[in-house]
Amino acid sequence: MSDALTRKQFLQNGTKAVAAMAVGAGALSLVSRSPLSAGPSMAAWPYPYQALDVEVVRNYGHQAYYAKGCCYGAFYGLVKALAEKIGEPWSSFPAEIMVYGSGGGAGWGATCGAPNGAAAVISLVSAQARISVLASELFGWYTQSKFPTDQSNDRAVAHTFTENRYDQSLVQTISGSVLCHTSNALWVEAAGFKNSSAERKERCARLTGDVAAYAAKILNDELAGSFAPLYVAPASVGTCMTCHGASATDTVAAKMECTQCHGDPHTSSNVAERIGEPATYHLDQNYPNPFNPETRIQFSLPKAERVNLAVYDVHGRLVRELTDFQEFAAGTYTVEWDGKDTDGKRVASGVYFTRMQAGTFSTTKKMSLIK
Ligand code: HEC
Ligand code: HEC
Repeated sequence: MSDALTRKQFLQNGTKAVAAMAVGAGALSLVSRSPLSAGPSMAAWPYPYQALDVEVVRNYGHQAYYAKGCCYGAFYGLVKALAEKIGEPWSSFPAEIMVYGSGGGAGWGATCGAPNGAAAVISLVSAQARISVLASELFGWYTQSKFPTDQSNDRAVAHTFTENRYDQSLVQTISGSVLCHTSNALWVEAAGFKNSSAERKERCARLTGDVAAYAAKILNDELAGSFAPLYVAPASVGTCMTCHGASATDTVAAKMECTQCHGDPHTSSNVAERIGEPATYHLDQNYPNPFNPETRIQFSLPKAERVNLAVYDVHGRLVRELTDFQEFAAGTYTVEWDGKDTDGKRVASGVYFTRMQAGTFSTTKKMSLIK
């Protein structure tokens, strides 16, 4: 770079840029201003917030995903709506600070950029003690929600997004994790589209709008004094952390669902003995197997859950949904599959997979249809 800025010029230019970010008048703030946070020409943290229309935010988030990715998209969706309502400091805030976060951080598949970007706005407008409370609700909600949501699928079908690239409803999946890798891989597997496909990008665009919209709802509620967290951590976190958390062995710090990566390191009977609780989630091998034309599939739940049980072919295409996220009480259930696809046609001989998703639990079993 021949015309690289000297450090002095950089600082001077920086001062000019932040001078343009003086706080707009009359905006509500979620908390009183911190006297420590900024010099005279810089907008003081926390930044002002006003109640936003979540559908406006959903649209901006969806649109901005296509400009610079999910993390930027969710951040910008909120910032653009705030700039329209409040003006400065939002109008000149460099949303590009979030570009790094796409694909779970420069493609690393770590924290999904959408909750990462939206939580950055939570950080900018909230009192310090509230940031992790509000961001935890956003992350927790993310792990348990069906994406894309019904709202964004419906908007795409109705052509009410500004960026109108794909107007089919997309398969919905629950990731059980805030990790981009997990969220994407589960969707790609269930939907049968490649990771590089236009459909997968549209899925992430809708998800980006959805996450920005939910962050706006959280902040609207916080501003109104009516915020109440809905997220309840999966049982494993409480169970595992009684022994591994700060009050016992103190070797682990995490809120992520433990069994998604560890399976059950102690075997369920072992942990059940240790903590005196019944067994965990289970999907049995179908019976009979091989089968023709019908087979039974049994699953168990340790607590009430919405369950999605679906049959896929060897190419990962959805053949039939046996339960569609209906709620089941704790217990053991048997579902029959009559060997027919969604259109009621008998499927060909071959290998099929049943996939069970219940809350944050997910597993797959292989079945053979032999005519
Ligand atoms: C009743 C106490 C208790 C509970 C509940 C418990 N653990 Fe452990 N866990 C232990 C002890 C004790 C060890 C062995 C010593 C150590 O590594 O701290 C261990 C070891 C481990 C290890 C290391 C295993 C290895 O091979 O080195 C992992 C991983 C682990 N636990 C994960 C979990 C997860 C995940 C859960 C919840 C599903 C869980 N634990 C529940 C007590 C418990
Ligand atoms: C994203 C995947 C992932 C999740 C989610 C996860 N872990 Fe781990 N954990 C790992 C990896 C990788 C290691 C290192 C290899 C190993 O010991 O299995 C590890 C190690 C551990 C160990 C061994 C630590 C030691 O000192 O030997 C314990 C105990 C553990 N995890 C408990 C938990 C608990 C409890 C949770 C839920 C709150 C959890 N993990 C969630 C991936 C994960």
